Amino acid sequence: MIRTQVLGLGSYVPERVVKNEEIPFLDDKHVRGDVVRTETDDAWIYKRTGIRERRYVPNDGNTATSDLALEASKRALADAGVDAGEIDCIILGTLSPDFHFPGTAVLVQKKLGIAEKTNCACFDIRQQCSAFVYGLQMADAFVRTGMYKRILLIGAELHSHSLDFSTRGRDVMVLFGDGAGAMVLGPSESDDPRSGVMYTAAHADGTGALDLYLKIFEINKLPYIDYNPTDRETNQLMYPHMDGKRVFLHAVRGMVMASQAALAKTGLSWDDITWFVPHQANLRINEKVVEVAKIPPEKVLNTIEWYGNTTAATVPLTIDYWRQQGKVKRGDRILAAVFGSGFTWGASIFTL
Ligand code: UT7
Repeated sequence: MIRTQVLGLGSYVPERVVKNEEIPFLDDKHVRGDVVRTETDDAWIYKRTGIRERRYVPNDGNTATSDLALEASKRALADAGVDAGEIDCIILGTLSPDFHFPGTAVLVQKKLGIAEKTNCACFDIRQQCSAFVYGLQMADAFVRTGMYKRILLIGAELHSHSLDFSTRGRDVMVLFGDGAGAMVLGPSESDDPRSGVMYTAAHADGTGALDLYLKIFEINKLPYIDYNPTDRETNQLMYPHMDGKRVFLHAVRGMVMASQAALAKTGLSWDDITWFVPHQANLRINEKVVEVAKIPPEKVLNTIEWYGNTTAATVPLTIDYWRQQGKVKRGDRILAAVFGSGFTWGASIFTL
């Protein structure tokens, strides 16, 4: 029977580390000044979120989401020992695409130098923090049906350019960072139902769509963009908005339910899982999930302390971070649970 295997994994974060202590002094170009622009501090951010620092791209106009995706992809391809020219499908999850259209996957295809060579299928998916599990479900279905044989699954985000660097936007602004993660997936013959990608489940509840959103434009209106992009003080449409408490509660519920269903549907227990990798939105959310779902705390992997929330990238980025620390190894079985804007959520069990 054809089953989907993880062939390789890679991640990339930009070099600039932005510590909580810097945040109050940053202007909207990320330049540190002498005066406090945002009323926040390290104590509040760390206590409420578990974040100490995050990464930002250089603000030189030369780095886009596709560049972060490209670096993570190159590392995943090298890890898999797969040549870029072998990729026959790219699935890219992001909420911060380079442009409104075309999608970012085609830009990565071009930057990988395989566009004209392969003309491979390119999908952009829009499931925000849940994109990795949604993308894995697509990849798994494609591989099992024999549709594609070498899939590059990417989660990449450039948040730092669309945040509101002021007290008005502090609830959202302090949470997010830039980064990317990628995986290469392909088929292998196996009769072991526990090998490779064992389980994926994806869910959504559109009644939560406006509990966490970034509009930029409203296509039902003319003009469909109604703001002055040089006046960041007054414009609301260009920033993300969130009902933090509602998102927090739904995130806990969604990830608990998805994790418990993953075990129930596969007949596994936490003894069979090497690592639990939750989406990285808030350490307090993950602690609550671990408590409610009775997950052994020593099996939980987090990276939010160093990277903040990188939405579509958090799961591969976290796995790769801990692999580089020597904790995660090939053959480990991972249960990943995600929750994000939409609302969207889901879980997956796979062997690395
Ligand atoms: O990837 C999925 C998307 N995101 C999430 O899952 C995030 C979910 N939500 C959260 O993580 C939390 O709701 C937050 C971290 C965003 C906020 O934490 P909270 O404990 O729910 O705080 P709150 O919104 O109830 O605000 C408490 C106070 C307020 O002040 P007042 O009204 O009590 O005077 C806020 O204005 O904290 C204030 N506040 C801040 N203070 C300092 C909000 N943000 C900040 C800040 N620094 N950055």
